[in-house]
Amino acid sequence: MKTTRVTTTDKPADSVETDLLVYLATQINNKAPQCDKAVMAQVKKAFELGDFKGKEGEQLFYYPAVTGGEKQPAAKRILVLGLGKIETTSKAEPKTKNDEATVCDTLREAGGHIAKACEKIKARKIIICLPPRGTLAPEKTAECITEGVLLGDYRFAKYKQVTRKKTDYTGITAVKFASNTAVKSVRKGVAQGRISALAACAARDMAHEPGNGWTSAEFAAFAKALAKTHGLTYRCIEKKEMEKLGMGGILAVNQGSAIPPRMVILEYQPEKKTETLLLVGKGVTFDSGGISLKPGAGMEEMKYDMCGGAAVLAAMQAVGEEKPKIGVVTIIPATDNMPGGTAVRPGDIIHHYNKVTAEIVNTDAEGRMILADALAYGIKTYTPDGVVDVATLTGAVIIGLGHHFSGLISNNDSLARSLEAAGKLSGEPLWRLPLNKHYKKQIESKVADIKNIGGKAGGTITAAAYLSNFVGKIPWAHLDIAGTAWDFTKKSYIPKGPSGIGVRTFLTLIRNWETGKLK
Ligand code: BES
Ligand code: MN
Ligand code: ZN
Repeated sequence: MKTTRVTTTDKPADSVETDLLVYLATQINNKAPQCDKAVMAQVKKAFELGDFKGKEGEQLFYYPAVTGGEKQPAAKRILVLGLGKIETTSKAEPKTKNDEATVCDTLREAGGHIAKACEKIKARKIIICLPPRGTLAPEKTAECITEGVLLGDYRFAKYKQVTRKKTDYTGITAVKFASNTAVKSVRKGVAQGRISALAACAARDMAHEPGNGWTSAEFAAFAKALAKTHGLTYRCIEKKEMEKLGMGGILAVNQGSAIPPRMVILEYQPEKKTETLLLVGKGVTFDSGGISLKPGAGMEEMKYDMCGGAAVLAAMQAVGEEKPKIGVVTIIPATDNMPGGTAVRPGDIIHHYNKVTAEIVNTDAEGRMILADALAYGIKTYTPDGVVDVATLTGAVIIGLGHHFSGLISNNDSLARSLEAAGKLSGEPLWRLPLNKHYKKQIESKVADIKNIGGKAGGTITAAAYLSNFVGKIPWAHLDIAGTAWDFTKKSYIPKGPSGIGVRTFLTLIRNWETGKLK
């Protein structure tokens, strides 16, 4: 992955030589937009001509004059980007109420617009002048813009080798933030935004890899490398050990495959031990459906069925860099789901790690089978204070929520609320669905403890009902990202393919974790 340098300066923005100098302007009713005084004259003129109001995403491009008595900016080009009516500081303007999450996302979108503008003019080095002080602290402002720029600048061209030209634009190489006040806070915000955005980009990279490019072995190798770089504890449970431990779920799903399964584990503990959060992510590197084979059309998208695993692993990259106050353990049950001659059959009965037996009615409901073993094992081994699993688990969640919310199901209101808040602040909203005994009844089996499908009705919830058999009483939440892991809400900083969803939500959850809350 390319690394973009992100720095901060307190020098005047227009004294720095750069491909593009960016200013941000907020819209004000019937008045010239509010912006830095360095560009006020141009913005006023454009406003009077009716060319620029400062609306969200609106752009005013110009070039410093070549001659002229006055000192000209050192930048090659100047862009004034509209933010819309987000931060009104003028007294004449009635305060438009925007919550923190909305302002954050507007700033991320602005970052995305900047990245898109850079691509158009092939700008590699840019400097961004922070907007005039508004409703958000400079730290958060810098964090969100950084995120937006880096997420919006993302591209995956690894396999475009023959058609790639030397002159092709490969993205921004250096971003500088100019601020003459609160430089220390700005620097901190930039660092946080950079860590979370690059982690989300790492998750997108993993997701982009096809089924033959990202197998359980690649999950293990990435985790091992992270452990080495950041001093985390790495462990990988291989097939033989799974057999010994009785992990019948992941073994059954892997039965028809030529590639061995792996349960990949990373652990981070702070120096002073506090609470531990367990994150479990579905790592199905390709889901053919198995013997209950999926239809051919669109099956190639099932290479994305490992996005939950990618999210928790990428979150661990950020954890490794940031070293938070709480402990974090991530587990990725990783395998593909293939219909080979030795594959698990509909009707087969399996024994999970915690001895619960399950009748496999449909081999395409494989995510819950591998998560079950990972949850039971993780809870028993690491005794965490809370558990969150994340998975592209059901097509049903797309029917229910479309591509704009991930599904959330939890046995703990406090954990659910923290996750909802973290998701909202990260621009990755969650919608909670219920779970009670009536849904659990749908997966009762005549021949085993449970069965792996619960009928057409409430498919997302019955999948969670299956998982609930493996978490006991511990605070637990399940995120279904089948609708949001790719084809997520179109935004300037969310590309068409994999979105990297979950990574920034987890990071926000960890950063804002309040010890003792789940007790
Ligand atoms: N990976 C799929 C879920 C999925 C579907 C994700 C579409 C993204 C887009 C999962 O393993 C699956 O096949 N689920 C089945 C469950 C059914 C057999 C109960 C589904 O949703 O159809
Ligand atoms: Mn499936
Ligand atoms: Zn699947």
